[in-house]
Amino acid sequence: TPVSLWGGRFAGGPAQALQALSQSTQFDWRLAQQDIAGSRAHARVLRTAGLLSDDELTGMLEALDVLAEDVADGTFLPVLADEDVHTALERGLIERAGPELGGKLRAGRSRNDQIATLVRMYLRDEAKVVAGLVLDVTDALVAQAEAHPGAAMPGRTHLQHAQPVLLAHHLLAHVWPLLRDVDRYVDWDVRAARSPYGSGALAGSSLGLDPEAVASELGFDGAVENSIDGTASRDVVAEFAFVSAMLGIDLSRLAEEVVVWNTKEFGFVRLDDAYSTGSSIMPQKKNPDVAELARGKAGRLIGDLTGLLATLKGLPLAYNRDLQEDKEPVFDQVDTLTVLLPAFAGMVSTMTFDTDRMAELAPQGFSLATDVAEWLVREGVPFRVAHEVAGACVQECESRGIELWDLTDEDLATISEHLTPQVREVLTVGGSMASRDAVGGTAPVRVAEQLEAAKEKIAEF
Ligand code: ARG
Repeated sequence: TPVSLWGGRFAGGPAQALQALSQSTQFDWRLAQQDIAGSRAHARVLRTAGLLSDDELTGMLEALDVLAEDVADGTFLPVLADEDVHTALERGLIERAGPELGGKLRAGRSRNDQIATLVRMYLRDEAKVVAGLVLDVTDALVAQAEAHPGAAMPGRTHLQHAQPVLLAHHLLAHVWPLLRDVDRYVDWDVRAARSPYGSGALAGSSLGLDPEAVASELGFDGAVENSIDGTASRDVVAEFAFVSAMLGIDLSRLAEEVVVWNTKEFGFVRLDDAYSTGSSIMPQKKNPDVAELARGKAGRLIGDLTGLLATLKGLPLAYNRDLQEDKEPVFDQVDTLTVLLPAFAGMVSTMTFDTDRMAELAPQGFSLATDVAEWLVREGVPFRVAHEVAGACVQECESRGIELWDLTDEDLATISEHLTPQVREVLTVGGSMASRDAVGGTAPVRVAEQLEAAKEKIAEF
């Protein structure tokens, strides 16, 4: 028998069209265990307030345990007439505890404070899961960096050859933003750790219920300070959505590089067969679909964020039914990230680098010109002049189709009196990288330290 939560003042049930529009069990059922946990905590404060006897509390908790099991093994499911997860579970409770006892639990709480609490509980758990999966990706990147300590590659700006860098330095440049994303989930949790339970519909409860007791039983740091804020705000949900979208973007930027590195023209990486796909028509194809899907999913994760922000934008206080739209975007983000991240980690950990090709390309495109200029500065030449001289070297080489290190002693002397043959010492990829040895630079000693720092940071989580 369907249970309506508001029979009293209504002459009839909802139109079928309203029911279809209103229904949320198809997505909020995943909050069922959190709802039952909230009910257990609520039953205890009803007891403390003298609104349930000891026996009633025992009976209530037993019925909730049975309900929790029936939900877990799928024996109890929502039906069409259940508007949302709360409605369905009240029906389930009444079926198990009887209408007399089962009907007492709703006192002093509203679906408005319930749902605001449940979504926080759910996201707090999932943030830890997602963050753990991100750390699998950073582990994979760190392992690749560690496996290629001396390998050089062309560092780029504007996608043009800029200066040679260590492959490990470049890989770690993807690790740090991902670790900041994990940090963001951790920071976010501080704000998510406030429980709206006890806010009621918007104004709080008159029944002497203790929101702090409920909060601590549900693993929160405390109750919200304001019942209107507790039921009406969703900035905590939106912030989760931002962190998840940012994570998607950080993955997507690496994904884009993998796609490019994997082309014939670059030839920097080969993807493992287990993380590549073929073509139904072109027998030779091996495609980087994991990376492409990561790039594509980033668009979806951003859409989830922007859709939610748009939903929130014009809402007056306190609760409005629009807020029911807060859940699907973040549920979609959780689902998206939990399938994407393991595949992404697998792709990264199994890809192989053609370090010979990368090393060969590292000094090309006159990427050592800055080293010539900086060598001149160390010789006492003002940088403005040094920049001109190095530029003249590039022009000379370009017109003759040669590289900087092909310039003879006479060529150098003709370009500038400052260019003695010693300048050749910096015209190697190894020399160039070793010279960038301040904190954060690409010198192998610094990158080795950086690698340890990244591992330490990962171990802290
Ligand atoms: N299902 C709603 C939501 O997800 C909670 C119920 C509040 N409904 C209401 N009519 N006050 O936000």
